[in-house]
Amino acid sequence: MSQILVVVGSLRRESFNRQLAEALVKLAPSDVTFKFAEIADLPLYNQDDDANQAEPVKRLKAAISASDGVLFVTPEYNRSVPGVLKNAIDHASRPYGQSAWAGKPAGVIGASIGSIGSALAQQHLRNILAYLDMPTLGQPEAFIHVKDGLFTEDGQVGEGSREFLQGWMDAFLAWVNKHVSKHVSKHG
Ligand SMILES: Cc1cc2nc3c(=O)[nH]c(=O)nc-3n(C[C@H](O)[C@H](O)[C@H](O)COP(=O)(O)O)c2cc1C
Repeated sequence: MSQILVVVGSLRRESFNRQLAEALVKLAPSDVTFKFAEIADLPLYNQDDDANQAEPVKRLKAAISASDGVLFVTPEYNRSVPGVLKNAIDHASRPYGQSAWAGKPAGVIGASIGSIGSALAQQHLRNILAYLDMPTLGQPEAFIHVKDGLFTEDGQVGEGSREFLQGWMDAFLAWVNKHVSKHVSKHG
């Protein structure tokens, strides 16, 4: 049984990426639990506050620490990651030496109305996660182009993408499990 923290890089009410995240959760076996990180109420990161982090920052760091793995679902803004996502990442990486992200296995996926399906944002995000020492699933990559029928009316993945996204989710959860069992055998 594992616990996954889901971080969605869009605050938009009708966000496709949030819909994608919610549909992905439905593809997981029932012994995997998911928690959605709240990042909308984080203040703008300011290094002056490192010694006295705000409550929402502490809450985010605690949620990361309690998780076995992190699933990032992000749109692409101007060929990179949205500022709200980078703000959340920066907060939880500090104070220096006390990053909550270190060692947590991660998966990166995203959807866009553009034809490259958030590929450049995902690539930038991989760069950030490498620095944060988060082992990140390399394959399969998933650049989701939002089109009619991507989701069903009840929020499941539509027929045309179901097999692919099921395979992606299976690979991500296997990746998390591999890292969790490594951690247990080393430390427990
Ligand atoms: C500020 C901004 C910048 C954007 N830049 C890109 C971009 O670089 N590449 C892209 O494919 N889509 C871009 N888009 C379009 C987004 O893919 C689209 O708004 C998408 O619906 C956002 O994801 P969401 O539905 O999860 O909020 C941009 C949208 C905004 C608001």
